[in-house]
Amino acid sequence: MDNGIFVTGTDTGIGKTVIAAGLAGALKAKGVDVGVMKPVATGAIKTAGGLVSDDVRFLMDVADCTDDWELVNPVTLEPPLSPLQACMADGCEIQLERIQQAYLELSNRHDFIVVEGIGGILVPIKEGYFVSHMIRDLGVPAVIVARPGLGTINHTLLTIKEARRMSLKLKGFIINWMREQKAGYAETTNPELIKNLSHIPLLGVLPFDSKIDVCGLEKGDLISMTLKHVDIDKILS
Ligand SMILES: Nc1ncnc2c1ncn2[C@@H]1O[C@H](COP(=O)(O)OP(=O)(O)OP(=O)(O)O)[C@@H](O)[C@H]1O
Ligand SMILES: [Mg+2]
Repeated sequence: MDNGIFVTGTDTGIGKTVIAAGLAGALKAKGVDVGVMKPVATGAIKTAGGLVSDDVRFLMDVADCTDDWELVNPVTLEPPLSPLQACMADGCEIQLERIQQAYLELSNRHDFIVVEGIGGILVPIKEGYFVSHMIRDLGVPAVIVARPGLGTINHTLLTIKEARRMSLKLKGFIINWMREQKAGYAETTNPELIKNLSHIPLLGVLPFDSKIDVCGLEKGDLISMTLKHVDIDKILS
């Protein structure tokens, strides 16, 4: 059994936070002691208590997480940019050791860690270091979140190709934001087709739920929906 997963995606805004939070909540509902982590968050909002990332708030809320913010999110940056560019704009440098140490500490506390990446697999963290390197260094298998519609075959296969080039372990992919009533031929056939073309497991197809809102901290039926539509046992195996 793996002791964690790294949720990446084919793009930014694809549903990584929603899927990662849903998986953490679903695992918790199944009795697993699960921790959550967002190693690097950008676009954080300045508050009286410091920088706050909506993604981290949502992950911690849905997973009922009581770990310290610094462990869950060791690097919080304000510019809404890739980490490399946010650091260039802010004149800071990301300490990768802090991320490793936080992950180790969370792994000691919990049986399973759900990590949310940032953007897609080739988003730069620092010079010469991409999200794919972070997945490799944390040593957990990746779950790829993809959208249902036209164009997703290309984006998903490219992401899988890069993961394979980096010898990353791939747990599978999840299609997010499926609107059954509005689904055309592409949406209906893409999940199985990507599975057959890539030879990686299709872990589930999560529907669109208008009650979900990451920024508004609204989880709607996310946990029950994840339990129903995602193969949670495969996530653990
Ligand atoms: N299945 C869904 N049903 C309804 N809304 C969703 C669903 N998935 C995602 N969303 C909404 O879409 C937006 C983007 O989702 P999310 O924040 O999870 O993407 P992300 O990949 O984590 O983005 P980022 O790259 O900024 O971290 C959010 O406002 C979220 O509430
Ligand atoms: Mg996110």
